[in-house]
Amino acid sequence: MALYSEKVMDHFLHPRNVGEIPDADGVGEVGNAKCGDIMKIYLKIDGDIITDVKFNTFGCGSAIASSSMATEMIKGKPLSEVKKLTNQAVTEALDGLPAHKIHCSVLAEEAIQSALEDYRRRQEEAEQ
Ligand code: FES
Repeated sequence: MALYSEKVMDHFLHPRNVGEIPDADGVGEVGNAKCGDIMKIYLKIDGDIITDVKFNTFGCGSAIASSSMATEMIKGKPLSEVKKLTNQAVTEALDGLPAHKIHCSVLAEEAIQSALEDYRRRQEEAEQ
């Protein structure tokens, strides 16, 4: 069996939603100290909906595929659903990752949650 699924290879070779959103409503950046990979996620949010999402990942192929898939999974979705996105869901959508690459999908989950937190923080500040 191939080490990586066709979906992983597709999202690695043709990543969706790569880039930045200069006027993003929430930005999340996380890194993994062991492998040194870094992931940054930008969210554009209108009301309760993620209207746009972009990512920049300085990392391995699995991290790029995970960020690409994760952004596809949250685009157009309500915040309540996005909050529940787990790395397991991202891994399943990619038809699996090798065991030693699971942490790459964790990075995608963490980056999205960190961007949501940033959005919440900005909302609170705006209300004060
Ligand atoms: Fe660390 Fe992939 S090897 S994110």
